[in-house]
Amino acid sequence: MNSFKVDPYEKWWMVASGIILVLFLLAVAVSAFSGFGLPGHEPHIDPSRVAVDPPFANPALVERGPGRYDVYMRAQIWAFAPNEIKVPAGSTVTFYMTSADLLHGFIIERTNVNVMVFPGQVTKTTARFDEPGEYRFFCHEYCGLAHHVMFGRVVVEARS
Ligand code: CUA
Repeated sequence: MNSFKVDPYEKWWMVASGIILVLFLLAVAVSAFSGFGLPGHEPHIDPSRVAVDPPFANPALVERGPGRYDVYMRAQIWAFAPNEIKVPAGSTVTFYMTSADLLHGFIIERTNVNVMVFPGQVTKTTARFDEPGEYRFFCHEYCGLAHHVMFGRVVVEARS
């Protein structure tokens, strides 16, 4: 005599969790074979050519208009380039960032900027600097031996 009996309700949940498992495995398989990307519209780039191809080969601050700036910034062990940028107070600065090697972080104190910087991806983030002063930024993803010296600053100058 078979005394093992499964309640129909239990059986339904077992089937449901089996289906969920299969769906998750499918999702892993799809992302593995189709390549994965971050949400957003910034282009993918070849991380081995970051130091060779523009715009990240010449990381710089670019003025786009009155009070509007773009920064093309390269992160690599263990520095940001440029590691100091100067803008007048009231400026809106858009950062385009990528990594030449491994995963780095980018956080600017007293702003909402807190992003990750991936090899092969361009991270875009914007901040407005109204108060004159110095805003330090740091790498906040552990990236090896000298992670703790990976920092720089935004210098916001008072308008004369
Ligand atoms: Cu770069 Cu930590």
